[in-house]
Amino acid sequence: MQAQSEAPTMTLSERADALEERMMHELEHVVARSVLFNLAEGKVETESGPALRARNPGKYMLMGADPRLPQMPAKPTLMDYFKCRFASTSHLLQSATHALNAGHDEKVVLACLLHDIAVAGFIRCDHGYWGAQMIEPYVDEEVSWSVRAHQALRFFPDESVGYAYPDMYVKYFGPDYRPEPYIVEAYENARRHRYYMTARLITVNDIYSFDPNAKVSLDDFVDIIGRNFKQPKEGLGLDNSPSAHMWRTMLWPSRFL
Ligand SMILES: [Fe+2]
Ligand SMILES: [Fe+2]
Repeated sequence: MQAQSEAPTMTLSERADALEERMMHELEHVVARSVLFNLAEGKVETESGPALRARNPGKYMLMGADPRLPQMPAKPTLMDYFKCRFASTSHLLQSATHALNAGHDEKVVLACLLHDIAVAGFIRCDHGYWGAQMIEPYVDEEVSWSVRAHQALRFFPDESVGYAYPDMYVKYFGPDYRPEPYIVEAYENARRHRYYMTARLITVNDIYSFDPNAKVSLDDFVDIIGRNFKQPKEGLGLDNSPSAHMWRTMLWPSRFL
């Protein structure tokens, strides 16, 4: 391959940059990276418009769909985001299947299906808060409230439903990890809330040990989504709801502005 022959002494990150540069030149438009993508690489920087133009003479900035990503339909649905934008849906499907098999009502099943969509398709940090905001205009408030609250509840046991602090968290975060004060406060407020148990059931049905062989399918949830998720007729993200811009950002993550 060209990448290996052209510069065998390049570091891994230099090779990645070179590959990205080449891919950009192969595209018809200039693909820009948001600062957030650079922050995740440990860099506080962004490339200016003039610098991008200078590197890509005669090309316009990308202002729509990124041709490198799966093509979304003109009026995307939640299912389309599951299929074309969410990087991993197994955890969500396994959790929702668990809730379905346990006989919980549709709100709980939907909350389990959507509880980590921020991680699956958007952003990790504060995923419960982002996820709740994404779905808030389209679901019953019990569902979005619970998705938000599950972020805090995960860290606190509730023996009444057999929920213990997950062993996986000890492995992931270390034995000394303690949630920040805003999470503790959110937990204390959630305990007194009327939807507490719905949010708690998200943590109970959350699958902490991922089973790569589990048979799960999005098809099992088509009807529940149909009955409980208000799909906007313009397409999810192309409506003017208070969170439509978040869906559009997943739709067009590399749009210049
Ligand atoms: Fe979560
Ligand atoms: Fe989860």
